Amino acid sequence: MSPKQKIVTIDGPSGVGKSTISRRVAQALSFTYLDTGAMYRAVGLKLKEAAIDLDDEAALRACLDTVRLHLLPAAEENDDVGVILNDRDVSQEIRSPEMSMLASRVSALPAVREKLTHMQQEIGRKGEIVAEGRDTGTVVFPQAAWKFYLDADPKERMHRRAKQLRATGESVDEEELLAMIIKRDHDDQARSVAPLCKAEDALVIDTGVLTIEEVTQAMLEAIQR
Ligand code: DC
Repeated sequence: MSPKQKIVTIDGPSGVGKSTISRRVAQALSFTYLDTGAMYRAVGLKLKEAAIDLDDEAALRACLDTVRLHLLPAAEENDDVGVILNDRDVSQEIRSPEMSMLASRVSALPAVREKLTHMQQEIGRKGEIVAEGRDTGTVVFPQAAWKFYLDADPKERMHRRAKQLRATGESVDEEELLAMIIKRDHDDQARSVAPLCKAEDALVIDTGVLTIEEVTQAMLEAIQR
């Protein structure tokens, strides 16, 4: 068995508090935070703007070859990480509910996963990262030393997401948001390549019954154990 890498992976469905928790764990350990979802979002935006037919494998791969991504650390403690897509700051654009659905859609494409998995493994080569996503413990970093899978009831997750969106001034239709969350869970779990699932050796935490601080603390204790 190859040696474990000094990497923390945090996977789970949308709205479980992964980003906030990942940022805090990374900060406490002085590791780099890697938001893999932001990368799928940026690629979704690129493919949309280039009007690529997602069934046209050659066009898809040619477009992916032009993608350069640069992740910026969050400006404030509670902000998302920033993303520069080919010299353009797309940090805000990629965070809308529409971009969430589009990211989920393009993330099922093998060519997209191949490209981003490779980029993520390059970023993690030296270790000391906290990687957040859907397949970071199963596919991207199977040799990570510490793996977590966060989960919570879809309604809890919808309320958390609604609060975040309202805080940014967006209006929210709760029923529609819940339907989107359930659809995205289903699509992320049902795809044939690197579906959302718990790594065998991941510790599962239900974030619906704990505060963000409690979850972060439990994870840091498990890491230091
Ligand atoms: O974590 P997020 O909501 O920003 O992710 C957006 C979409 O990207 C998510 O619905 C599925 C996809 N994704 C993925 O397939 N694999 C990852 N490691 C991270 C995200």
